[in-house]
Parts: sequence; structure tokens; C-alpha cells
Amino acid sequence: MTFRSLDTADLAGKRALVRVDFNVPMDGGQITDDTRLRSALPTIHFLSGKGAKVVLLAHFDRPKGKRVPEMSLKPVAGPLSDLLEQPVAFADDCIGAAAQAVIDGLENGGVALLENIRFHAGEEKNDPAFAAELAKNGDLYVNDAFSAAHRAHASTEGLARLLPAYPGLAMRRELDMLDAALGTPVKPVLGIVGGAKVSTKLDLLNNLVARLDRLAIGGGMANTFLAAQGHPVGSSLCEHDLGDTAREIMAKAAASGCELLLPVDVVVAREVKPGVATRTLALDEVGDGDLILDAGPKTVERLLAAMDASKTLIWNGPLGVFEVPPFDIATVAAAKKAGALAEAGKITAVAGGGDTVSALNHAGVADQMTFVSTAGGAFLEWMEGKTLPGVKALEV
Ligand code: 3PG
Repeated sequence: MTFRSLDTADLAGKRALVRVDFNVPMDGGQITDDTRLRSALPTIHFLSGKGAKVVLLAHFDRPKGKRVPEMSLKPVAGPLSDLLEQPVAFADDCIGAAAQAVIDGLENGGVALLENIRFHAGEEKNDPAFAAELAKNGDLYVNDAFSAAHRAHASTEGLARLLPAYPGLAMRRELDMLDAALGTPVKPVLGIVGGAKVSTKLDLLNNLVARLDRLAIGGGMANTFLAAQGHPVGSSLCEHDLGDTAREIMAKAAASGCELLLPVDVVVAREVKPGVATRTLALDEVGDGDLILDAGPKTVERLLAAMDASKTLIWNGPLGVFEVPPFDIATVAAAKKAGALAEAGKITAVAGGGDTVSALNHAGVADQMTFVSTAGGAFLEWMEGKTLPGVKALEV
């Protein structure tokens, strides 16, 4: 993939229309996690430092083409200004006279945030007329929102066709790290895929078994594979109707030389409750009424050894019900090992997807990983091997 570089762009006095992802968690108008704001800072500083007028475009929530006051981006302007340590002007529409007046008032290096682009139906429809209205506010387009790049919307795809288009710094880093993990990784490559259901990760599993040297499957989805192999899973979460699918994935892994690491022992309880009594069982000891809620110690030991034997790790999804201790033991042990190996420079460890980020934070190792993507749907679609329209549109 080849992209234009902002390093050689002529930026002084130019209006840079920058697509960011400010779809942040909010509670009563207060931002509860500003990670996405922080990830946009390097690009904003860079453009502002080169004398561009920085015009930020973003969506918030899903107002479905209508103006919904609770979904305004206005509460984001103040916290962003604090983080940037410079004023952020706010325009209460992303097109038309309101946007133009605010942009006209910007000095070189100034920053403006425009109101939620999803207040206009043309955004999600990727309507060319709406994209053309947006394009009037910029001389160039920068996309720094990898986490929205799976959407073919006017601000993520259409605009890139109308203005000289560049990836922002966060987008470049994300693409470089994802390439290092799955595109052109240093081998051997180990994947860890966990989470509740096989059915939500079918494309992902099919793509990964064709590309990785080893794939560890954990969480509720491992139960579907164990059941497909004829092991009892008691009352555990399990998609019994996906037995054939699980067997097909196992056959595909064998044919492509990908070693599947399924649990060899499990931790069970009678209910999902903090501090409840647990038992560690071999696979065939799981009884009626048992709930498999975490991977057992032998499984963890094998996974840690696989990490030692790998140069690259790509991780999506927890290995157990980590939100309810003690069912966090396997996930925390694996996270700590991955963090330590990455920090020691022994492995490139890339993780992503909603639950995975919480799990790594829970283990206290998010900072030690080589890269943690905060993208949800976009990260999964990329792991599925899909082309992301917002990335494709930036290619030259
Ligand atoms: C996200 O939060 O994952 C992105 O901002 C995309 O949001 P969407 O799922 O509403 O398109």
C-alpha cells in the first residue's frame, strides 16, 4: 500500500480537513475515557505546527441523519482544548455557513471542531453531494480514524476522492503495526482468539488459520471446538449447532500447517459469581451442570511456551470470564507474559478489539504491549482479511 506523506505536503495556510474518531464513552456529558482524543493529538500538533488550519470532522454515536442534541460533539471541544493546550473553536454544523464562519475565523495553526457529521443523512449514505459540501471546507483531507475505516461513509471514503488525501500519524502507525502483526510479520506467528462465540468470529478464524503458525482458541468459543471433538462441556456456553463449522476450521488449520492450541484442561464452577468455588478438570471430567469459565493451568503453561517460541503475537479476545475473578487467571497470566516478552523486545505483540483492551488494562500490561488498537469493528474486519474502505481510499 502506498500513501501520500504529510511530511512533504505544503501545509502553511492550508485548510486541513481531518477525520478523527471522537466516538468516546460519555456519561452525562462527561468523557469517561479520552484515549481516542489523545491518539489524535500528534496529527493535530503536526498540522498546526506547520501552519495549517486544522478542521476536525468526527461522528458521535448513531443519530441516524437527524440532529440529536444529546449526541452533539460540543462537550468534546473543551477537553480537547485542554489536551492540546490551545483553543478549539466549535461550529454547530459540519457544512454550510456555520462551518464556514468558524473556519474563516481560524488563524494559521488554529483548530476547529465541527458538529457531528452523522446529523446529516448523507454521511452514512456516502452521498457525493454531501461529500462535496464537506470538501468545500478543506484544501486537503487527512484521515486519522482507523477505527472508523471499515465504514464507507462520506467523511471516511467519499472525501478522499475529492481532495488530496493523506493518512494521519495515528492511522499510519496503526497500519504499520497491523502490517507487522499480520501483513508481513516476523515468523513464527502466534494468534490468540478468545471471546464468547464462534459465530461472530467465523471469518476471522478462517483467515487466521490460513496465515498463522499457531492459533490458540480460548473463551466461550473454545467450548464449541471441544464439543465438536466429542468432549463434554456440561452447561457451558457452547454453539452445539456449529460442530461442523468448528470441524471445518480444524481441518483447514491442519491443511495449512497451523497448529491449533485448544484447552487441555479447564476451570469450572456452578455459577458465574466473584470468588465462587472452582474446580480444575481434565477435559473429559466436565460434568452436567458444570460451567467452563476459564482455561486451566496446563493450557496456560502450553500457551506461555508457545509465546516463548514465537516472534509475533496477534491477540483478540479474552481466554475466560476475566471480568469475574477468579476467572481472570488465564487471561492475566497470558497478558503478563505477552507484556514482558514485548517489553524485552523478544516478540512483537499486537492486540485489539473492545474486550481485549479491557482485559490488558485489567492485567496492567497495556503499556507493555508493542501496540494496542482501540478500534473495535475495524480491527476485527482487518483480522478477517477484509479491505477497509477508509484505508483503500487513501492509497495512491
Ligand atoms: C467505533 O466506535 O468503533 C467507531 O467509531 C465506529 O462507530 P460505528 O460502529 O457507530 O460506525
